Amino acid sequence: MDAKLEQDIRAEFEPQIRACAHPQELVVHLLRAIQREHGWVPDEGVELAARLLGLQPIQVEEVATFYDKIYRRPVGRRVIHVCDSICCWSRGEQEIRAHLEARLGIRLGETTPDGVFTLLPTCCLGACGRAPAMQVGFRLYGELTPDRVDRILDEERRAAGQGDPP
Ligand code: FES
Repeated sequence: MDAKLEQDIRAEFEPQIRACAHPQELVVHLLRAIQREHGWVPDEGVELAARLLGLQPIQVEEVATFYDKIYRRPVGRRVIHVCDSICCWSRGEQEIRAHLEARLGIRLGETTPDGVFTLLPTCCLGACGRAPAMQVGFRLYGELTPDRVDRILDEERRAAGQGDPP
């Protein structure tokens, strides 16, 4: 994490922290801001959040590791969260996951060699009525079939190549 990023995060959050009766409430926002700029949250990001919020690093770490969409390791430019909760599982999640793994050539928890996609499991995305579902970046996709997954991956790869935000 470079000094410029730390400076930017300080500039963005110090006014909010001063205005907040319980600054620790900003921990998720702060971690997400670091991730937005850095791609993931390194140890220095946890330490920075702790310093700014007056917390111990372990308190920030507990939050960072609780949420599955805060990444404590490097990830690809597009993180695919494939839902494995009951509605999706009962409507073909295993087939969709196997298709994603075959198409991307990676297993759950891994990143493609070109650094575009990371594949992770997730619990219910709140799209049970459109199961099976997955989230790519901030986009939610439901009613997945292998063909639809292929189209989504092509589109997401193209967008990542153009530098579009996730
Ligand atoms: S079980 Fe998959 S979206 Fe709810």
